[in-house]
Amino acid sequence: MIKIFDTTLRDGEQAPGYSMNLSEKIEMAAQLENLGVDVIEAGFAIASKGDFTSVAEVAKLIKNSEVASLSRALKKDIDASAEALKGAAFPRIHTFIATSDIHMQYKLKKNEDQVIEITSEMVRYAKKFCQSVEFSAEDATRSRPEFLYKVLEAAITAGATVLNIPDTVGYTSPAEIYDLIVGVRENVRGIDKVDISIHCHNDLGLGVANTLSALKAGATQIECTINGIGERAGNAALEEIIMNIKTRPDIYPYETKINTKEIYPTSKLLTNITGVKVQPNKAIVGDNAFAHESGIHQHGMLSNKATYEIMTPKSIGLADKRMVLGKHSGRHAFVDRLDELGFQLPDAEIDTLFEGFKSLADKKKNITDLDIQMLAMRRNTKIPQTYKLDRFVINSGNTITTTSSMKLIYTNPATNKTEFLEAVIPSYDGPIDASYKAIDCLVGSAFSLEDFLISAVTGGTDAFGEVYVKIKNNKGNIYNGYGISVDIVEASILAYISAINNMVYEENR
Ligand code: KIV
Ligand code: ZN
Repeated sequence: MIKIFDTTLRDGEQAPGYSMNLSEKIEMAAQLENLGVDVIEAGFAIASKGDFTSVAEVAKLIKNSEVASLSRALKKDIDASAEALKGAAFPRIHTFIATSDIHMQYKLKKNEDQVIEITSEMVRYAKKFCQSVEFSAEDATRSRPEFLYKVLEAAITAGATVLNIPDTVGYTSPAEIYDLIVGVRENVRGIDKVDISIHCHNDLGLGVANTLSALKAGATQIECTINGIGERAGNAALEEIIMNIKTRPDIYPYETKINTKEIYPTSKLLTNITGVKVQPNKAIVGDNAFAHESGIHQHGMLSNKATYEIMTPKSIGLADKRMVLGKHSGRHAFVDRLDELGFQLPDAEIDTLFEGFKSLADKKKNITDLDIQMLAMRRNTKIPQTYKLDRFVINSGNTITTTSSMKLIYTNPATNKTEFLEAVIPSYDGPIDASYKAIDCLVGSAFSLEDFLISAVTGGTDAFGEVYVKIKNNKGNIYNGYGISVDIVEASILAYISAINNMVYEENR
């Protein structure tokens, strides 16, 4: 069984544009557990107070996966990780030091003997707190193999249970990493008692290829991220690695615990949280990954799907666009479709979703599985709805000044009392600008809109529109918001309000 180590919340989250706040990390970690990853790297506990808290909260929540915290090979880092991981069912301390000449000389200013000594000492130190200790030789692929073998052997002797070989700068090739892993297996004493892990960055576009090659050479743990997010060009993408293994068992005869039907929901959740969409042609989870536009392809697909389809959308948990329900469909049929799509929800949630379905059916004649999936995947966020949209009316046209009449329900977080807030605001810049100005006026706190992205999800003029926004408060913190509706103005308003609720919640916790 190959172990999957997900580092979306650490290596992924540290990339610009992907920062997540505490509740978002918790939501993401719970979904990674559903997906079936063996290890969730929840953060770098020493990096900041926020990172420490996220590792601690994820550690308390997760019951089936190991939770790891990254630490440099320094006592204070390991102490912070050990402390943050106290509540974990299965804690793992992950410590690392660089082993390439360039890193040792210019970054660490240490020689080989010193690096070996620090490795032994720090792995032994980590081992006092935790049975599961992972050691990473940073920049392993640019290290002298003979020296790398010695460092890895020292880590094993000190008690490491997992040895990670990172291609930190995405420099290696499939043939070279294959040889390196074989070299490690042949030259490091005690290697057969520990897991060999591979961690590839994607600077030359080879992250996934290198990972699969390392797997063939004998790696037993794979480090990766959802949607391939990560520093610079990112990390090897979990969904691509897993679907390679699943689609080509003749080449990759390995098992993992991943439930592939959770791949699309996990990818989509990450997109919704961070507001960063994957490119349309991204393998596995891109909007076009299963779209067949050319006539020849469509004809082939109609005769036999296997002509052009090597895996099904269903296998990654993506619903298709066939019409399934309409205005007259009842609750029973709706619940059946939800069930078929893998959503087994409590009655109260189904009631809310059914209401959403009915109002969607009023606006949209044919409702597809994909529409239902989008409805069900609207994040059932645990963040309190301090501000909630009650209604809005837009008066707009190309010869008049647009006005937005906005009515929000405000719930006071301290007293739980609710009140209506109303404003009517004109704008020369259209309905979204007028609506955002009306909301600004009702909320009254200082923040600015940093990013706004709108796109259609399901196709056609009555498609669901999705909106991602990022707002920045006066301390420079960024908060994400997401909204979906067949009305793009409503989706925009919902996204803005959700970002504001996120900000209010995080500022007051
Ligand atoms: O890329 C890298 O070298 C890392 C290590 C800290 C594992 O992320
Ligand atoms: Zn990395």
